Amino acid sequence: MFQENLLKGRAIFLTGGGTGLGRSMALRFAELGARMFLVGRREEPLRETCEEIHRAGGAAAFTTCDVRDYGAVEAAAAKAEEQFGEINALVNNAAGNFMARTEKLTPNAFNAVVGIVLNGTFHCTQVFGKRWISRKLGGNVLNIVTTYAAANCGSGFVVPSACAKAGVLAMTTSLAVEWAKFHIRLNAIAPGPFPTEGAWSRLMPSKPFEEHTKDKHPMKRFGKHEELANLAAFLLSDMAEFINGECVVIDGGQWLRGAGEFNDLLMLPEAAWEAMEAARAKKS
Ligand code: HXC
Ligand code: NAP
Repeated sequence: MFQENLLKGRAIFLTGGGTGLGRSMALRFAELGARMFLVGRREEPLRETCEEIHRAGGAAAFTTCDVRDYGAVEAAAAKAEEQFGEINALVNNAAGNFMARTEKLTPNAFNAVVGIVLNGTFHCTQVFGKRWISRKLGGNVLNIVTTYAAANCGSGFVVPSACAKAGVLAMTTSLAVEWAKFHIRLNAIAPGPFPTEGAWSRLMPSKPFEEHTKDKHPMKRFGKHEELANLAAFLLSDMAEFINGECVVIDGGQWLRGAGEFNDLLMLPEAAWEAMEAARAKKS
């Protein structure tokens, strides 16, 4: 359903583009015609992703950058412009996370995650926002959050991430209104579980826990990278010009599975349902 050149003419700055979902988005956007500028802290994965894009005939470049450092983000933005001219879109995908009992966290552990996710997203968003506003260009921001980012949800054992992602969601909705007059739109994607080295090594403590997570999932599976990359491409494209301030959940219904009071009735065997239905039929 996507035209081959859906993102042609776009230059996209994507954080955390060397690994996981960032890498998958970078490859897909480049396939759809975008020129990709990737940042992250480690050079090797960024270089490898760019090389794969080049091999497929696409355009990509990278620089190392810690998004926690505002000056480094400004320098990376300048490099991106040197490479591709004006940058049209920003994807805030870089994140840090780990599971921990909150009472054991050090202040530095909290700051490490919030610094990457919340401050890092603000740094990148403001650096490009300022440019787009002063140059009267318009722009497009896509923030990758999580389903537990919803302020009335959260999640135990990942409290720094939950706090930071909720902040990113608030930034998305706030700026969607504040910056709409500058033709800058902001949206978010809240993914459910998508297997990546980064997330799995930090958040899946064991194979049985992974199996349990899959088994509890209404679709009994995890997400496929192309499913998320295609949604992201759509939200960045002109097809989504009137979508602003939205957070699209892509989790196969996992979040709702946890929310509905009676959803655990999924555990009830067929035979129990049939017995109850037969008893009701006898009464009536
Ligand atoms: C408790 C921890 C910890 C852990 C680190 N710390 N890991 N505390 N439990 N597992 C503490 C350290 O002791 C230190 O505090 C502080 O955090 C900073 O640690 P550093 O290793 O110095 O930090 P840094 O090198 O900056 O690395 C940041 C990081 C790391 C977040 C800790 O994990 C990282 O680089 N992550 C990037 C990739 C990532 O996390 N990907 C997953 C994204 S998945 P002290 O006080 O000792 O100095 C996701 C959504 C998943 O976000 C949803 C799943 C379905
Ligand atoms: P990942 O591969 O670990 O991705 C995180 C990326 O962020 C890495 O490339 C990392 O590269 C980069 N990064 C971390 N700290 C950085 C910093 N300070 N400055 C610049 N870059 C930094 O994990 P992922 O699963 O693909 O996650 C991608 C996004 O999806 C994240 O926003 C995550 O919260 C979200 N998400 C994932 C899932 C899932 O199931 N996988 C679910 C919900 C949400 P360096 O280490 O080289 O810096």
